[in-house]
Amino acid sequence: MDRFLIEGGRCLEGTVGISGAKNAALPAMAAALLTSEPVHLKNIPRVRDILTMGKLLAHIGAHVQALDLPPTDMTIQAERISDAEAPYELVRTMRASILTLGPLVARLGRARVSLPGGCAIGARPVDLHLKALEKMGAEIGTAHGYVEAQVPKTGRLRGATIIFEKITVTGTENILMAAVLAEGESLIENAAREPEVTDLAELLVSMGAQIEGIGSATLRVRGVERLRGTEHAVIPDRVEAGTFLVAGAITGGELLLERCAPEHLSAVISKLAETGVEIRSEGAGQLRVRAAKKLVAADVVTEEYPGFATDMQAQFMALVTQAEGTSAITETIFENRYLHASEMVRMGANITVGGRQAIVRGPTQLEGTGVIASDLRASASLVLAGLVASGGTVIERVYHLDRGYERIEEKLTAVGARIKRVGDRGGGESLGAGA
Ligand code: EPZ
Repeated sequence: MDRFLIEGGRCLEGTVGISGAKNAALPAMAAALLTSEPVHLKNIPRVRDILTMGKLLAHIGAHVQALDLPPTDMTIQAERISDAEAPYELVRTMRASILTLGPLVARLGRARVSLPGGCAIGARPVDLHLKALEKMGAEIGTAHGYVEAQVPKTGRLRGATIIFEKITVTGTENILMAAVLAEGESLIENAAREPEVTDLAELLVSMGAQIEGIGSATLRVRGVERLRGTEHAVIPDRVEAGTFLVAGAITGGELLLERCAPEHLSAVISKLAETGVEIRSEGAGQLRVRAAKKLVAADVVTEEYPGFATDMQAQFMALVTQAEGTSAITETIFENRYLHASEMVRMGANITVGGRQAIVRGPTQLEGTGVIASDLRASASLVLAGLVASGGTVIERVYHLDRGYERIEEKLTAVGARIKRVGDRGGGESLGAGA
């Protein structure tokens, strides 16, 4: 199992290229199941979850071809679907496999998808996905840890009015993909407005789907008989960009981010500015971050987009361990997303967690030590803590990071960090899962 060795205390300076968004690429790949024609995707990040989704689509019968030039492109063609099943051995390594449910039921009228199960940050139920599909005419059963869905008689879902009682990102994405081929009109109320949902909607429209209200909490979909292939570049990864904004700030350095989407980071940028960090747009897709002259505490509450993203909570916590004063962090989306706090406390941070709130008092000098990563964004926050800590930090289980950050140690080294990967990392697998 790989681990990172980090020597802290160096200012980061230079330019970082931001990769495509994992959480936009995953639904985009699943959307390819909605047509028998080829879907060509661009700006796909080379991260482990993408590899897993490629294997899953290939298992289902799609041809997944990762192109080598550029390595961030891939073509997926589900000419025929041989097996409408997402097996446990693949789903357990990537919860986002649930995104194949909507497209399979829409295309075939049936699906058997392993229940994703929980993860470190919470129970992660999918009840809202299933209730919505039932409203669209699917018969849903759960047996042996699998969801079994089928549409009786016609085999075609019918449009319905879906009112999500909670905002769910992949729930919205699943139902959107189900609705575009359903018979009649669907109205999706209280839809998630994350940029990744908007990006999926735009991809579906380019495939011939009829969707109104894109970017709003109310999506109106008119079902069509079939969708065509297309070409689509996924949006930049706003969480990777936010992570590097914090990396520049926490190390007292200055970074220029390229190929990012500043418009997706408004809440994060204004919260970082509140702590004294200087961030400004430099040009198309560019953000410059400069460390605060004096880093001060700030409170934050995570919210659905366009609020402050839960996926940036751990990184913000690392930053405010270095800020003057007391910061109150409130996590409203997931019930157990403070696993990184105890690891930071072991490094010397002053953090008290009580239920949904974490109180951070700073500044405290962090000292390098051995820490264990628990989930994707917690791992990123421990890298940030290691960059500012004195001495060496060893981060175990960096496979969590590899799921969602493309070559983070190479990108950090290029701007002055002392970080290296050690261990028996598996051979460099290609993105495509082959035929
Ligand atoms: C997506 O997860 C992201 N993953 C997560 O990113 C992100 O943290 C999350 O949205 C919130 O922004 C992908 O897009 C692949 P939700 P998702 O459904 O869709 C509850 C990362 O780091 N809920 O919006 O699974 C749920 O328990 C990952 O890249 C139900 O109760 O999140 C949670 O409390 C981590 N029933 C809340 O809603 C349901 O049927 C929001 O979950 C569905 C969700």
